[in-house]
Amino acid sequence: MTSTTPEATAADPALHLAATYRREVGASVDRIFENVFDWEHLPALHDSYFTAVERLDSGDWGWRIRLSRPPSTPDREQVLRLEVDRARHRYTAIFEEGIGAGTRFWTLMTPLDAHRTAVEVRYYLPEMRPEKLAVLGGKYMASCERLWSEDEAMMQHREMAEARARAWAAAPRPKPEPVELGPVAALLPRLPLVVAFAERPFRVVALEDGALVAHSTICPHWLGPLEDAPVEDGCAIRCPWHGWRFDARTGASLDGHRARLAPAPRVAVAADGMVTLVPADG
Ligand code: FES
Ligand SMILES: [Fe+2]
Repeated sequence: MTSTTPEATAADPALHLAATYRREVGASVDRIFENVFDWEHLPALHDSYFTAVERLDSGDWGWRIRLSRPPSTPDREQVLRLEVDRARHRYTAIFEEGIGAGTRFWTLMTPLDAHRTAVEVRYYLPEMRPEKLAVLGGKYMASCERLWSEDEAMMQHREMAEARARAWAAAPRPKPEPVELGPVAALLPRLPLVVAFAERPFRVVALEDGALVAHSTICPHWLGPLEDAPVEDGCAIRCPWHGWRFDARTGASLDGHRARLAPAPRVAVAADGMVTLVPADG
């Protein structure tokens, strides 16, 4: 369902082209469409632009969402509708209500190879004054550069994480062997510390209550990276991609999701202060 075309938008007398942004993105068109349909990442991955999102409607055609911009006050909300035209590798975003109401973007994609896509974004605004159009166009260009860079990093990481997960699934799981981490006094200043255990990555952190725990650094939702995820409220690991939170001690979701972190080894501290990662049941 696409209510119009780039040509129709360009010919609309109520809209004016403010800017055209072009770049090459290191991801396939399919991967970009996956990202485009993923409205849930907006306030987590792009937290400098958005503070909250609510889905109003969605389907194969795209989605309609209510977005909050910082600071989160009612006058900083906008309703955004996105419609995709998969066959022609393009989509349009329409600001229906709130900030920027009436604005429409078109994003046109050209596949370059299996992992690269040329992207062109055209910004059409209801604003007519040339000086104002130039200022707003410049702002949209700067935002677009940052948003696409954040999306590109996520898409590339996801591509690699999926490949690694496939390789792990195909290989026999090694027998978990203890991993010595040295004396606790020397370890504490190095935390949080990412270490391999049974060929999988885990992060050792000291919780607010002083407990040492290890947790998987791979988010079970979309394989998001948890190596640098903040530890909040004592023991909550928040994924940077969609903001899902997990209990570092148990791996359980703290938001009611069924997904949980992969089982982690136990951090054992011996009487002599030596720290070792051991199988959870060891
Ligand atoms: S990848 Fe979606 S919340 Fe982690
Ligand atoms: Fe994004």
